[in-house]
Amino acid sequence: MGEKRVLLIVGGGIAAYKSLELVRLLRKAQIAVRCILTKAGEAFVTPLSLAALSEDKVYQDLFSLTDEAEMGHIQLSRSADLVVVAPATADLMARAAQGLANDLATTTLLATDKPVLMAPAMNVRMWNHPATRRNLATLIQDGIGLVGPDDGAMACGEFGPGRMAEPQAIFEAILARLNPHRPLAGKRILVTAGPTAEPIDPVRLLTNRSSGKQGFAIAAALADLGADVTLVAGPVNLPTPLGVRRVDIETAVQMQAACQVALPLDAAICVAAVADWRPAAEGLQKIKKGAGGPPSLDLVENPDILAGLAATGPARPSLVIGFAAETQDVEAHGRAKLAKKGCDWIIANDVTEPGVMGGEDNAVLIITKDGLERWDRAPKTRVARLIAEKIAQNLNGKSAA
Ligand code: C5P
Repeated sequence: MGEKRVLLIVGGGIAAYKSLELVRLLRKAQIAVRCILTKAGEAFVTPLSLAALSEDKVYQDLFSLTDEAEMGHIQLSRSADLVVVAPATADLMARAAQGLANDLATTTLLATDKPVLMAPAMNVRMWNHPATRRNLATLIQDGIGLVGPDDGAMACGEFGPGRMAEPQAIFEAILARLNPHRPLAGKRILVTAGPTAEPIDPVRLLTNRSSGKQGFAIAAALADLGADVTLVAGPVNLPTPLGVRRVDIETAVQMQAACQVALPLDAAICVAAVADWRPAAEGLQKIKKGAGGPPSLDLVENPDILAGLAATGPARPSLVIGFAAETQDVEAHGRAKLAKKGCDWIIANDVTEPGVMGGEDNAVLIITKDGLERWDRAPKTRVARLIAEKIAQNLNGKSAA
């Protein structure tokens, strides 16, 4: 990795302070970083901070005589292996989607022949605005990669998607793109993620609090290692990871059908929080409040998708992995689940740990037939990367676990 070069465009958002940490992480990994700081970016971080951390000159002006003499802006756009925009503000994304070239940052984005990765950062309403959705769709169509944004509390006091991904997650997305190592090339892998939603009547649902974050992060990490990934997702509000085939479903029965279509597979990773039961019959009309008091719900059991995939006879994927969200005796319950489901690994986590369910971190136990690994608490993106590496080792025959 020693010779890799990143061109980092720092846009004008409060998240720009996190880009300083990103530069530090990249330099620590011996990746060369050259920075472009937009005019708005300069309101949040100083060129001096970026120059000190990147150990290089910081470029700011499209029409700077000295900069052009040293390194023309076309050369600047091509001297890197990867162009990263962090924070990618709504304005920068809009101008890039339009193909404008009215400052050094957008001119560079238009002139580059290198892959581009953006880390969007903006207020939740700006992120959800139809104009931003249009620009995002254009940028994705143009082949631009995305990392984040995350869901959470924002500097402006609001809450929702739009917060820039953490520097560690951007750093890992950069590593994945710079890394020519694709040990899962040609492997077909299924990931289920998110909750399922089981209709009671046309307006009411039985569902759960799964965010889908861990499953989506695993799908992204597998795709980064070259796998051909199908992600069967319940209703979640997350962007599709780059290079992943996504199938959206609502119910467990639909999830099972989508998983069957994905066979044959090398591996299946069931991260979804599938509803255990569904109403026996979905009412065609909204159930009315009546004098007879609350109605009773007749429930039937949903198919166990994981157990079904682990029991597909000769067509069984060679590695079937289940997740177990537990609130007590994590190891014992995880081990019992391994036997009951007939899968190869159970990845168990204690969801009573603050910040795990729906949050950004996870602390997991990997339980296999003949072993146990306990991983320290880490961001879900990092846990995903480690799981993807472990899967690659297993499928390539380097580990019996
Ligand atoms: O049965 P339990 O929900 O405890 O097991 C969790 C594991 O089983 C997860 O991997 C989940 O994706 C999977 N599962 C499934 N289909 C179900 C229930 C759980 O695939 N109906």
